[in-house]
Amino acid sequence: MSIRTLDDLLAEGVSGRRVLVRADLNVPLESGSGAISDDGRIRAVLPTLTALRDAGATVIICSHLGRPKGTPDPQYSLAPVAGRLGELLGAPVAFASDTVGESARAEADKLAAGQFLLLENLRFNKGETSKDDAERGAFADQLAGFAEAYVDDAFGAVHRKHASVYDVPQRLPHVAGRLVLREVEVLSQLTGEPKRPYVVVLGGSKVSDKLGVIEALLPTVDRLLIGGGMCFTFLKAQGHPIGTSLLEEEMVDTCRELLDRGQGKIVLPVDIVAAAAFAPDAAHEVVPAHSIPRDRVGLDIGPDTVAAFADELAPARTVFWNGPMGVFEMPAFAGGTRGVAEAIADVKGITVVGGGDSAAAVRTLGLDESAYDHISTGGGASLEYLEGKPLPGIAALEN
Ligand code: 3PG
Repeated sequence: MSIRTLDDLLAEGVSGRRVLVRADLNVPLESGSGAISDDGRIRAVLPTLTALRDAGATVIICSHLGRPKGTPDPQYSLAPVAGRLGELLGAPVAFASDTVGESARAEADKLAAGQFLLLENLRFNKGETSKDDAERGAFADQLAGFAEAYVDDAFGAVHRKHASVYDVPQRLPHVAGRLVLREVEVLSQLTGEPKRPYVVVLGGSKVSDKLGVIEALLPTVDRLLIGGGMCFTFLKAQGHPIGTSLLEEEMVDTCRELLDRGQGKIVLPVDIVAAAAFAPDAAHEVVPAHSIPRDRVGLDIGPDTVAAFADELAPARTVFWNGPMGVFEMPAFAGGTRGVAEAIADVKGITVVGGGDSAAAVRTLGLDESAYDHISTGGGASLEYLEGKPLPGIAALEN
């Protein structure tokens, strides 16, 4: 990878220079209180931020949060993130109430060497996500105007052709931050010549979201273990009744083809935790995966499936896991995700947890994060990397 790194920038010297850091501070917020429920993405960018601070740079940080529609929307403000970032850095983080407007300019002007400023949500501006090159470029010009150098540490956003990811690095000297480098280093081990057996565990609700990665991985993996909501469309494709469980009718034929093509590589659940309703306190029981009762909804994989998946995982030398096995947010239906996460933690080979819900599950269930070699911060980004799709954020750094 011909990408300049943060170390290259530090070697040139950044003391007194203004550096714009694109971070992915898109953290989950609790509905109602707005409290940050998982600060993993904030912690992941600290090594880059502290390295810049220690080298005397003036650090201006930008990020998106959620998917606001190009105008300010208070529920997506980064203000709570500035507070948490300050706590974790042990230093104040100034906050601009806009992204490139009066507040941002005034706060940036006040900033001294070694200090931090977080700009308000990039997606409060239409230019950030615009498909129009000129509109994106105009916004990128404004962002680039804050700094003399650009560091991309937003791995979770490298698959987006957005102004702060794709256009700003074309306007400033640019390098990859520590997080982006680590993510690419680890994920490249899964696409090159992975040590075998190579076992991939996929969950989450929709087959359609994972189709690209399944297609890309099927020829390479030794086993593909499928749980979560997406397993029901596969079970349906095998001709089994799935009750009222999640079904993507239009994907049934595709699942059948994948099962044929997989020639035994795809492993499906043998039992399911089936509930009377989609509710935390719903009555539930473990049923065989091939005979889910008509009036029941599958909300988790069952204990025999956890044991079968653990058997497949035990000899693995490389494991990639993306997507929960059930509705882990409800304790009654968290057993499958917990069991599989524990089995992966016991694997002797390299273990990589894809971002998004699976990373959140590791932390929410109180599992030991250090038991995994790498927990990616990128949900969509890590899947697109494994699919082999071109990533605009990485391409921009290579130029
Ligand atoms: C993510 O949560 O995967 C990243 O922050 C990217 O967010 P997006 O899917 O809204 O672009």
